[in-house]
Amino acid sequence: MYTERELEQKVEEIDLHMPVPEQEEERQLYYLKKCRELLREQSGAAGRKMTFCVTTFGCQMNARDSEKLEGILELIGYEKADEEHADFVIYNTCTVRENANLKVYGRLGYLHSRKKKNPHLMIGLCGCMMQEPQVVEKIKKSYRFVDLIFGTHNIFKLAEILADRLERGKMVIDIWKDTDQIVENLPVDRKYPFKSGVNIMFGCNNFCSYCIVPYVRGRERSRAPEDIIAEIENLVKDGVVEVMLLGQNVNSYGKNLEQPVTFAQLLSRIAQIEGLKRIRFMTSHPKDLSDELIEVMAKYPKICRHLHLPVQSGSSEVLKAMNRRYTKEQYLALVDKIRAAVPDISLTTDIIVGFPGETEEDFQETLDVVRRVRYDSAFTFIYSKRSGTPAAAMDNQVPEETVKDRFDRLLHEVQEISKEMSSRFTGTVQEVLAEEVNDHDPSLLTGRMGNNLLVHFPGDASMIGSLLNVHLDECRGFYYMGSIVRKDGQEVE
Ligand code: 5AD
Ligand code: SF4
Repeated sequence: MYTERELEQKVEEIDLHMPVPEQEEERQLYYLKKCRELLREQSGAAGRKMTFCVTTFGCQMNARDSEKLEGILELIGYEKADEEHADFVIYNTCTVRENANLKVYGRLGYLHSRKKKNPHLMIGLCGCMMQEPQVVEKIKKSYRFVDLIFGTHNIFKLAEILADRLERGKMVIDIWKDTDQIVENLPVDRKYPFKSGVNIMFGCNNFCSYCIVPYVRGRERSRAPEDIIAEIENLVKDGVVEVMLLGQNVNSYGKNLEQPVTFAQLLSRIAQIEGLKRIRFMTSHPKDLSDELIEVMAKYPKICRHLHLPVQSGSSEVLKAMNRRYTKEQYLALVDKIRAAVPDISLTTDIIVGFPGETEEDFQETLDVVRRVRYDSAFTFIYSKRSGTPAAAMDNQVPEETVKDRFDRLLHEVQEISKEMSSRFTGTVQEVLAEEVNDHDPSLLTGRMGNNLLVHFPGDASMIGSLLNVHLDECRGFYYMGSIVRKDGQEVE
C-alpha cells in the first residue's frame, strides 16, 4: 500500500518512451502518466482544468468502487465538479432491480442533450449493469454518444481505457466476463477522512434464484488478510477511526484462500489494530453466520452492535425456492442465539415481497418473522424480475396489485416496529461518531451511533471525526436529538 506521495513519485518516475509494463500495477501507473500528458494537452487547448464527476447507483460496494475511480481521475489531473459542470461524467451503475436500470437510461437521455451543446463532454458507464450483454448491445445501438464502457472486474483499468479513448476518439468497450485478479495499490479518493469502506472479498457464489449479483460480480474472491490489515493500518495512520468491511457475503470470507482464514479470525485480527475505534461489516448471509463470529462480536466492543441479516422471506417454502438454504425456524433460532450473546445488538434486514409463487400465507409468515424479530430497520423490496436468473423463468409470477398491497402492509408493520425499536435508547448516553454539520441547522452536528442510528446534537465542525458521548434526549421517529456529555455524565455547557 503506497501513500499518496509515494504514488505520485512512482508516476513521476515513469518514462513513457519505455515499453508498456506487463505487471498490472505498473502498467496502470504507466497509463496514468499517459493520461496525464493527454489531459495536459486538453487543458492547454481549453485554457482551464478539466473536471470529472462519478455518480454512484446502488450499494456500498459500488460506492467504494467509485472512490477508486475518483482516486485514479484525480491522480491523472482531473478536478472534481458536480455533474452539471463536469467534462467527464461516469455513471457507476447498479442492476439489482429493474428500477436501477431505468434510472440510468433516463439520465443518459439528459446527458445526450448536454453533449449536443458541448461535444467535448465525455461519458463513461461502468458497474454491474454493464456486465449484462443485452445492456451493452442496447447502448451500442441506441446510445452511440457514450464514450467508454467497462464493467465491475476492470475498474482498476480506468486509466488504460481512458488513454485508449483519448487517442482513438471512438467508443471504447472493455468488459470482462469474470476475473480471478485482485489489483492492489491503486489510488483511492475517500469520501470521508474519518471513515472508510474496505473490500475484503469480491463476487458471490450463492446464486439466490432472484439475484443477478453472481452473474455481474463473478465468483467469490477473498483478499489476503495481510493486504486487508495493511490497508486498515494505513487508513488509521491517515485519520480513519471507523471501517466498514465490505463483501457480498462476508461470512464466507477466506474459504478459497491458499491458507483458509475464517471471517471471525479476520475480524478479531482487525479488532486488535490500535487506533481503530469502530468496525462494521456487510453483508451477512444467515446460512454462513458462525458461532465463532458471534463470539468475536461479543468479545470486542469495537465491533459495532449492529448486524444486517437479510431474511428475504419468512416462508420456508419461498426461502427454498429462493435457494437461501435456511428455513424460517433456523433463521429465528439464529436471531435468538445472537441476541443471547450480544443483548444490545440492533438487527436490520432486507425483505422481498412478491417472489414467484408467494401466497398470502407465505406473506403472513414474513409478517410473523418481522413481528418476532422486531428489526431496528428493514429495507423492503418489490420482487423485480432479472433476466437470466432462475426465478425469472418461474411461471407463477404474482400479480402486481397483490404485490403492491402486500408491500404496503409490510412497510406499515416494519415502520411501526422500527419506530418503537429505535426509541429504546432514549435517555441513555451513547458513543456517537460526529460526521457532518447538520444540513438544516448549522449549529448542530449529525453523527452515528454504533447501531447506525443518526443523532443530531449541538456542536461545531472541529468535532467532526471524533467519537463523543452523547445523551439521547429525544427520539423523533428514526433519529435522535441529543447533547454532548462529559465522561462523568454531566452535560457540556
Ligand atoms: N428483486 C427485488 N429485490 C432484490 N434484491 C436482490 N435481488 C432482487 C430482485 N431481483 C434485494 C435483496 C438483497 C438486496 C441487496 O436487494 O433483498 O438483499
Ligand atoms: Fe451493488 Fe448488487 Fe447493485 Fe451491483 S447489483 S451495485 S453489487 S446492489
